[in-house]
Amino acid sequence: MINLLRSLWKSDQPRKTVSLQHDNIPEHVAIIMDGNGRWANRRGLPRIIGHQNGMKAVKRATIAADEIGVKYLTMYAFSTENWKRPKDEVDFLMRLPQEFLAIELDELVEKNVQVRMMGHTDQLPSYTIAAMEEAAERTKDNTGLVLNFALNYGSRREIADSVKSLCNEIQAGQLSLDDITEDHITSHLLSAGIPDPDLLIRTGGELRLSNFMLWQLAYSELVFSDIYWPEFGREHLLEAVAEFQQRTRRYGGLT
Ligand code: FPP
Repeated sequence: MINLLRSLWKSDQPRKTVSLQHDNIPEHVAIIMDGNGRWANRRGLPRIIGHQNGMKAVKRATIAADEIGVKYLTMYAFSTENWKRPKDEVDFLMRLPQEFLAIELDELVEKNVQVRMMGHTDQLPSYTIAAMEEAAERTKDNTGLVLNFALNYGSRREIADSVKSLCNEIQAGQLSLDDITEDHITSHLLSAGIPDPDLLIRTGGELRLSNFMLWQLAYSELVFSDIYWPEFGREHLLEAVAEFQQRTRRYGGLT
């Protein structure tokens, strides 16, 4: 299946017409946007130009997701591990949400998109947080697509933090150890209130999850693509959704 997908998704392949079943659109699509650096290297450009073009692909994915009726779109924009990159690249990535929102926020407001952020705010620069907070505030009453940026996000830390909060509640006598369920963990995650992704897309050819939504992806359908993120467009989202629609989701059962 993966090989088939890879051939479908090579960027030099002619695009095929995709028709979707409108009653089976994934409610939540999550995307690991990988391949910006390689896209730039291949063109002899600095890596940051890859990220700059990756930002444009975020817009294309958002418009396409909104158009087909996806309710939640989560984009992995910066991981807790990405701080290990050179300072210039990190600084550039930290400025991107501000730049993206300066260009796109009015249109997102108009298109009824709700912007959210999911991540550990402690290490983020104040200008990054301020841009996200302004966008969240201006769009909080919007009822359309939820565009959720995972920024300084790490799934293991998120799970550890959830467990810590539950331990605090136990210590405070608000919760008993025997009462803890999966739902308690879920409701203390950074993604609380957002349903688990139905579909995860990863571009850039790597076949791994990279500490992204490990708890929430337990039963998601995974679609991997060789294309680099800056090449991602409407047709790639539609192809991934078409692939999702071919899958039978059994959640560990038999039907
Ligand atoms: C991984 O590609 C990509 C990132 C670490 C950054 C992703 C960010 C964007 C696509 C832009 C986000 C836009 C907004 C609006 C926040 P890589 O650099 O690891 O690529 P490589 O594997 O080819 O080196």
